[in-house]
Amino acid sequence: MKISVIGAGYVGLVTAACFADLGHEVINVDNDSRKLALLKKGKCHFFEPGLQELILKGMSEGRLSFESDAGRAAAKTDVVFIAVGTPPKDDGGADLSQIEEVAKQVAKNIRKKFKLIIEKSTVPVRTGIRIRQIIRKHAPKGARFGVASNPEFLREGTAIHDFMNPDRIIVGADSATARKVLKDLYENINGPLMITDLQSSEIIKHASNSFLAMKISFINAISRVCELSGANVEEVAEGMGLDTRIGPKFLNAGIGFGGFCFPKDLAAFIKISEELGYDFSILKAVERVNHEQIGHYLTKLRSKIKNLKGKTVGILGLAFKPNTDDMRFAPSIEIINQLISDGAKIRAFDPEAMGKAKEIFPKITYCKDAYDAAKNADCLLVLTEWNEFKEMDMLRLKRVLKKPLVIDGRNIYKPKQMQKLGIEYVSMGRE
Ligand code: UGA
Repeated sequence: MKISVIGAGYVGLVTAACFADLGHEVINVDNDSRKLALLKKGKCHFFEPGLQELILKGMSEGRLSFESDAGRAAAKTDVVFIAVGTPPKDDGGADLSQIEEVAKQVAKNIRKKFKLIIEKSTVPVRTGIRIRQIIRKHAPKGARFGVASNPEFLREGTAIHDFMNPDRIIVGADSATARKVLKDLYENINGPLMITDLQSSEIIKHASNSFLAMKISFINAISRVCELSGANVEEVAEGMGLDTRIGPKFLNAGIGFGGFCFPKDLAAFIKISEELGYDFSILKAVERVNHEQIGHYLTKLRSKIKNLKGKTVGILGLAFKPNTDDMRFAPSIEIINQLISDGAKIRAFDPEAMGKAKEIFPKITYCKDAYDAAKNADCLLVLTEWNEFKEMDMLRLKRVLKKPLVIDGRNIYKPKQMQKLGIEYVSMGRE
């Protein structure tokens, strides 16, 4: 099939590269000239394992190309995925202006041949109806088109694997033609395909992300009770997870969730629910608990070092999670801001995210590796659970630290081992 994917962010670029790999002819559109220039040279503008190679493969085999004009790309293709940003507005609602603009441009390029417009970006429920209205208004008379919702569930860091091996493919469509196109598109992807109406599909995405965020805040709340009672949150999570109705995943306590999906989608889902007349109080508590974890983590640090002024703090991990260079809504941002205002000197290391972190914190010290970050530090903070931090030589780490104090926001080390090594160790929800 001839496909255009409008937007070359995480979701759009992965979708484009994967569909090209599955044999479709794909045009990926982005109006950011810097990103586009890189992509045209076959270079990915963010770090995602395997994506760079897939882009080059698609380009060299002639199935993947990049361009700047959504209307022009839409004119040449029968299927148009909209994967542009839906950033948060000040009131928490999703800013749909980019989606609306793309819908207009696509509408003007629909002719007699049926065109299917598919929303891939995460959107509030009823956005599909809005897209349909916009297209109807701007398309030429007699234009044939359909609108569908096909939310994406991939995670950063494992995006290609998730796209190619999804737990489920959700398709919200209201015409047989639209459903047929989507079924054909996903023919070679191994995963159950579920068909719903447009609104249900849109809610499935918001509800899934909110539920996962709720699981994280739930275990973080449990971790607080564990700390107060002398229990161990890892054992509690393991015991809970053995119940197949609960499951073991997404029960890691720590400094909470970040990234460009959970925080923004939660806020948008709370907002749209409110607009529709429902006060989603559970989700408000999920946001509150998530935020409280950062304050709680800093309290742990300040209970060990009363006055941080002039102290050196080593930081392992800046990205919102491992295997990505994404710093958006990373818990590290608020923590570093607090440390800076307390007058601490910061030595940080992250295997991938330091380039992006420099744009936010140009003045802190960036180190060549984890041991370098720990050098002469009064304490070491673990903020992202990269594998290489789990596999460190702890004796060497102890030797380079000025004081052997590790405050672990991701529970990557074993308290007993740290005790044996003579490293003072503070973690989340366990002693
Ligand atoms: C999330 C969803 O998992 C994807 O299914 C979805 O497609 C994506 O959002 C999206 O809407 O685009 P992602 O943001 O890439 O994916 O990252 P996750 O792996 O879900 O992690 C999110 C945050 O939760 C991270 O900060 C992570 O550290 C934190 N987390 C995760 C925990 O604190 N504890 C856990 O047990 C799991």
